[in-house]
Order: sequence, then C-alpha cells, then structure tokens
Amino acid sequence: MNSDNDLQIAGDILEVPHLLQPPREHPVTVAEFVGLARAIAADRSQWEHLVEYDATSRWYHRLRTGPGYEVWLLSWVPGQGSGLHDHGRSSGVLTVLEGALTERTERGTRALDAGAQRVFAPGYVHEVVNDALEPAVSLHVYYPGLTEMQMHTATAAVCEARPVTA
Ligand SMILES: [Fe+2]
Repeated sequence: MNSDNDLQIAGDILEVPHLLQPPREHPVTVAEFVGLARAIAADRSQWEHLVEYDATSRWYHRLRTGPGYEVWLLSWVPGQGSGLHDHGRSSGVLTVLEGALTERTERGTRALDAGAQRVFAPGYVHEVVNDALEPAVSLHVYYPGLTEMQMHTATAAVCEARPVTA
C-alpha cells in the first residue's frame, strides 16, 4: 500500500550522481568515527609496524589527526592497566586490535576481545586492563582530542574524582 510519505527511487541511483553526497574526507558522526576505527583495524599495514611493547610504562603513539579528532595506538603488556579515569570533554571510540582487554566501570566488568569496540561520551569513567597472558594492542579515537584525563579512585559504589599530580 502506498502513502503520500513513501519515498521511492526509480531506476539506477548510480545514474544520478548529482544527487549523491560526495564522500567526506574526515568523519563527523559517531558512525563515521566507528567506521574509521574499523577501517584502520582491518588494515594492519597502517599500525602493525608501529607497535612497541614497554614493560615499564604503557606505550602510545599518535597515529593520525584530523579536524577536531585524534587517533592513538596503545600497547599493553600483561598486567598493564590505565587506572580509573575519565576523558574530560572528549568522546571516544575504543577498539581492540589484537589480544584482549578488560574494561571495568562502576556498572561491572566487560571482556573486550580483538575487534570489540566501545563508544563513550564525555564524562564516561572506566579502567582498562590487560588481564590476559598475551600482549594487546588497542586503537583510541578521541573527539575532541584528549587534553585532560582525570584519574579517579574507586569506592564501594561511587567513583570519586581526584586530580592527576605530576
Ligand atoms: Fe579511557
């Protein structure tokens, strides 16, 4: 049954290129940032040769920047963790590229295997740990770029903010 609200495209959409949106050079929506992370994850040549493992501190490398966003590559040897933290004004997409990570929030614990993605908004508080016996690699997209990361202390039910000191 047709109604006045139905929109139908008749014929081949590729024959009307003037109606198509030009591809964007940079992501601007959550879906596009997730897509960017998936595309990088799928193309190991973009990141595999850059990964380093550092047992003394977590290793990170800024992989890419764009208008208002940054993409970071992180490595985690077994036992390394981020501590409980927020991301200031930044939203983010966390993608596990290799190995497995564990995410802890006040809501519980989540296992993140290779390919897993987490999208978070400003104010999101979590801790990421490599609880596995193998090293792990992750990709982090931040919008806007990460300029503040406040550390938190966990209490029974509430996470209390505590400023980072040098
Ligand atoms: Fe984080």
